[in-house]
Amino acid sequence: MNKCWFDYKTVILSGASSGIGKGIAERLIKDHGCKVVGIARNEQRLQNFKAELGDKGDNFTYYTFDVSQEDKWHELAETLQKENIQPDILINNAGILPKFDKFMNYIVEEIRSAMEINFFSCVYSMNALMPILLKSDSAAVVNIASSAALCSLAGTSVYSASKAALKGFTEAMREEHRDNCYIALVCPGFTKTDIFRNQSKSSDKAQKAMDLISTDCDKMVDYIIKGMWKKRDKMVLGMDAHFMDKGYKVFGTKCSLISSKVMKISGLDMFKSIFE
Ligand SMILES: NC(=O)c1ccc[n+]([C@@H]2O[C@H](COP(=O)([O-])OP(=O)(O)OC[C@H]3O[C@@H](n4cnc5c(N)ncnc54)[C@H](OP(=O)(O)O)[C@@H]3O)[C@@H](O)[C@H]2O)c1
Repeated sequence: MNKCWFDYKTVILSGASSGIGKGIAERLIKDHGCKVVGIARNEQRLQNFKAELGDKGDNFTYYTFDVSQEDKWHELAETLQKENIQPDILINNAGILPKFDKFMNYIVEEIRSAMEINFFSCVYSMNALMPILLKSDSAAVVNIASSAALCSLAGTSVYSASKAALKGFTEAMREEHRDNCYIALVCPGFTKTDIFRNQSKSSDKAQKAMDLISTDCDKMVDYIIKGMWKKRDKMVLGMDAHFMDKGYKVFGTKCSLISSKVMKISGLDMFKSIFE
């Protein structure tokens, strides 16, 4: 493996207990000798992951807290300083996908919660950790948004709003820190992870169609690691994400219209309540 700027760095990574975050942690530890400080709520899954790492398990430590709790990020910053741990990279990956639904069917509490987890958690983590990160000569922040930040679809008002907020925030932070910190925005399309656990189950046929446009989790992790390696500012990843990115630039709001029509005719149960 060629030398890479993040070899042997110390990385704070939220959402390390499953899916894309777990995959990134594994690659950083196994291929790049990084020390990863993982954050998530489910301690059992974090423990299992540490065990799965075998003799590399010592490179993974973790803290269990809800990323939407601002004070926990400040506590983490204090702990790192007390323990003389100098983080180099922050990856804000933890996120939830509220059930696809019409806006009128959400209760305000669900909307607030999604904004807290998907957006404000990144504001809190950057607010608490930037002063420490900037002491590193390889300071970096990677924010995992979504293709939903590029083009909004029916049924995703809450998710799209949270990820679009993250996109705007990340892009402004990037310009403010051009000289002292690499700040990346990642916009993955549909990826095969457990994030769809709360959506309605679809028939095998419809699910197969969904699988066709979705990217395997390992492949998505690979794209993200390669993008970080090349210090890409913005990563649009996956076939559907490229369609939404290019489609929005060419067709404008018609891209949302076309996508919504595709969702409607897809027959996927998870989109049904949107069009009823
Ligand atoms: N999969 C996709 O199709 C897709 C597409 C675009 C963008 N994304 C984004 O990619 C990121 C990772 O998603 P994924 O697909 O890997 O989903 P996932 O498998 O469900 O993983 C989500 C991770 O976030 C953690 N998390 C969720 N809420 C949390 C909270 N309140 N506090 C602390 N940790 C929390 C979870 O850990 P615990 O449950 O243990 O807390 C888990 O480790 C998310 O930001 C998601 O929006 C995913």
